[in-house]
Amino acid sequence: AQLGDKIAAKGKANFGAAADANTLQNANVQRLLQEEFSSVTPENSMKWEVIQPSLGTFNFQQSDALVDFAVENGLDIRGHTLVWHSQLPAYVDAIIDKDQLLALMENHINTTMSRYQGKIFQWDVVNEVFEEDGSFRNSVFFRLLGEEFIDTAFNIAASVDPSSKLYINDFNLDGPGPKIDAMIGLLGRLQTRGVPIDGVGSQAHLILGQVGSVGAQLARLAETGLEVAITELDIRIEAPVDQAKLIQQQQDYQTVVGDCIGIAACVGVTVWGVGDKDSWVDATFAGFDSPLLFDDGFVKKPAYAGVEAALGAS
Ligand code: G3I
Repeated sequence: AQLGDKIAAKGKANFGAAADANTLQNANVQRLLQEEFSSVTPENSMKWEVIQPSLGTFNFQQSDALVDFAVENGLDIRGHTLVWHSQLPAYVDAIIDKDQLLALMENHINTTMSRYQGKIFQWDVVNEVFEEDGSFRNSVFFRLLGEEFIDTAFNIAASVDPSSKLYINDFNLDGPGPKIDAMIGLLGRLQTRGVPIDGVGSQAHLILGQVGSVGAQLARLAETGLEVAITELDIRIEAPVDQAKLIQQQQDYQTVVGDCIGIAACVGVTVWGVGDKDSWVDATFAGFDSPLLFDDGFVKKPAYAGVEAALGAS
């Protein structure tokens, strides 16, 4: 694994990519996961709406396909994600009884983690708990249980699979502001309460030319004493894409990957997809394009050389 081996030579755990049963149907995605990456994150198949679409009905067909591919190809797996307000079925959102929610969380986390016991080296136990202003999202979990829903999720997860590093994950932690301040405060309280949390994932969904403060914020997260990981890196370019922007993207990828390399507690990097054509960016951000390391034809972009430079630099 070219990128995976190079980051391992820097003492890091993984250089990964997001994929799933759908994108794995493309031989180029399979090939590049085998040739370049050392871990894989299921882009959607381990989310609550896929795993337990209705109460008591579990659907592991897609996540099994991803896990089987990873195991067969010696790829580590980041589990994503057990407790999240988004892609959450209505039957969970509609719960108004605290004990019913607790029972459901326990059953979902237990059933999902048990199936992949020992195969998931990092789990995103809880995803995206904060609003941009640093307040807690008004999820059914926060509404009924308060901040301690996070303690509960991690305590259940730790009891199910002690072999996995347990992470909290969020986006827009890339610059100074109330959101990362809130995250840092939460991480301190969780550790004070003895919650079994191992790491914090910074998704790093970035915009071309706007990566300058990523390193400083990663360092702040590292100061909490937890592991840090870049978990969903992509760097979107405002159309029309041209060579100059692709060279800027090369520099930006070198900067961000270099930021992780330079921080001892940063254990690895995952990019949110293999090829540009499969990226969520195109469907989500009108007028933005080309966020990943491989182009629509799965050919290396200058961004790949930027990552190599960060991994090769002494
Ligand atoms: O699987 C259904 C398919 O059956 C249906 O025909 C199709 C059309 O409606 O939808 C398909 O589901 C889509 C799913 O991706 C699988 O492709 C959903 O509509 C679509 O909303 C979903 O988008 C995902 C998005 O999370 C949803 O929030 C993206 O692929 C995925 O990259 C993105 O990933 C998130 C991380 O989990 C958390 N961090 C942010 C990141 C970007 O939003």
